[in-house]
Amino acid sequence: MSGSGAVRHLYVHLPFCAHRCGYCDFVTVVGRRDEHASYVDALLAELALERELLAEQVETVFLGGGTPTFTEPRALVRLLEALPEAEEVTVEANPETVTPELARRLVGLGVTRVSLGVQSFQRRLLSVLQRRAAPADVRRAVDALRAAGIANLSLDLLYGVPGQSEADLDADLEEAIALAPEHLSCYELEAKPGTRFAHAHGAELARQAERMEGYFERVVETLVAAGYRWYETANFCRAPALAEGRDLRARHNLGYWLGHDYLGLGVGAVSTIAGTRRRNLPSLVGYVRALAAGEPPPRALEPLDDRTRRRELLLLGLRLDEPVRLVDVGDALDRDALDRMESLGLVELLASGRGEALRLTRRGRFLGGAVTAELLAALEEPVGVRVAS
Ligand SMILES: C[S@@+](CC[C@H](N)C(=O)[O-])C[C@H]1O[C@@H](n2cnc3c(N)ncnc32)[C@H](O)[C@@H]1O
Ligand code: SF4
Repeated sequence: MSGSGAVRHLYVHLPFCAHRCGYCDFVTVVGRRDEHASYVDALLAELALERELLAEQVETVFLGGGTPTFTEPRALVRLLEALPEAEEVTVEANPETVTPELARRLVGLGVTRVSLGVQSFQRRLLSVLQRRAAPADVRRAVDALRAAGIANLSLDLLYGVPGQSEADLDADLEEAIALAPEHLSCYELEAKPGTRFAHAHGAELARQAERMEGYFERVVETLVAAGYRWYETANFCRAPALAEGRDLRARHNLGYWLGHDYLGLGVGAVSTIAGTRRRNLPSLVGYVRALAAGEPPPRALEPLDDRTRRRELLLLGLRLDEPVRLVDVGDALDRDALDRMESLGLVELLASGRGEALRLTRRGRFLGGAVTAELLAALEEPVGVRVAS
């Protein structure tokens, strides 16, 4: 059952992990098995407070983490039973947590898509990343998910792991392709300055930094040659010829990239609703305590004026392979920069139903953020942020 509002995308954050991987910067908490049930109580209380914002028919639900599949099973089941039904229900999973029983349970509770955090198939690199899963766990997890009926499987890979050679990258891509996922996300590893991971591997990361453009091109070339559509900077789905008529782009994330409103529940979760961005603060204790008292969680509110929204539409829309309509981004676009980027062959203008539209050329997409930064018109006024309790 959903509400009478207009929001069609729901994100739910499950922060618990068995341990912390060195490179991870997400809102996560290690262990705390005895707190999972009360956290799910808090999520359900937040859902009850916000339910009216949701549309009668929700389009996508995404359970992200943390490690949603590490959540104590009864609490996870209770959560999935209470969430609105949706056409796409995705759960993020770590390979070592996926058993045949869990996979069957997820499917039985309406999960249609699983995003599996593989990162690499090389033992040496998994150990650098401090991952718990071995390569064999990935294959076991994929088999269990397929046997349970998951027909939309995404694999996450990382490139730029300290010590990763081109041959390592090729091997990872080859192994991932051999598992025939419907979707792949390939991210360049980000090591936040000041973290222990950056400290431990900083020298190697600096040495290999200039090779990353080549790695990115290798990822794209290999996956496109294997029949995947490079539909977003870091995301690939089976191209029409292999997709049996299905659009296999991640519908939930597509909602973010296209600037749709979304509701985020949970500690640290972000929402964008009717011109306001809300960020739940990252304290687990504060989150659970507020909801147990019937209050909304502590959060920061950021009004998004129309210009900011147009800037975000341009920034995010140019990550996609489909053109962005000029009428939608208006004054966010620097027209002189557009002319310059077009003459450099980095952007192309196309006719669209309502005027013109633009997209990055293949070369422009490899330079990505640098081209988009040029295209963004200068911003005169800073946008304010205030904290609500
Ligand atoms: C927050 S994780 C949650 C999923 C799951 N717990 C896992 O570790 O696989 C979602 C994805 O973000 C990506 N990711 C996490 N930390 C990253 C980093 N520092 N740089 C780039 N990608 C990262 C990984 O590919 C990961 O699969
Ligand atoms: S399992 Fe995933 S969310 Fe948890 S610490 Fe590792 S990378 Fe982060």
